[in-house]
Amino acid sequence: MQYSKKVLQHFRHPKNMGKLKNPDGIGKVGNPICGDVMTIYIKVKNKKITDIKFETFGCVSAIASSSIITSLVKGKKIDYVLKLTKDNVIKKLGGLPPIKIHCSVLAVDTIHEAIYDYLKKKKLKIPKFLEKRHELIIKGSKH
Ligand code: FES
Repeated sequence: MQYSKKVLQHFRHPKNMGKLKNPDGIGKVGNPICGDVMTIYIKVKNKKITDIKFETFGCVSAIASSSIITSLVKGKKIDYVLKLTKDNVIKKLGGLPPIKIHCSVLAVDTIHEAIYDYLKKKKLKIPKFLEKRHELIIKGSKH
């Protein structure tokens, strides 16, 4: 498989890998077709993601996508992070092979789920679109 330099860099030296103690939010999403599972832990202060870690059991591009998304959102406002799509991840990775696009979707879904979990735990207002996405992600993970 032809991977970009960036993908291989992030796969070999992933950033923010590990687990956070007492996270404010956790997102865990699995892809039922390939079996890969991603977990993202976040700390939030003043609506900003102040710390983030990930644990991914998956392929080269799932690990590279986790590394990129966590680097991309660290220090950023939640509102900004909720606007990110797979295209942002793919662009930052210098492209992904077509059959690996879903790995970038997994990364975006997982960070959005972590934010959902944070908002829910803190009893903060969850935007409607996020509530909908959450339902779809949960449904998709179970298949
Ligand atoms: S092959 Fe499924 S997340 Fe990469």
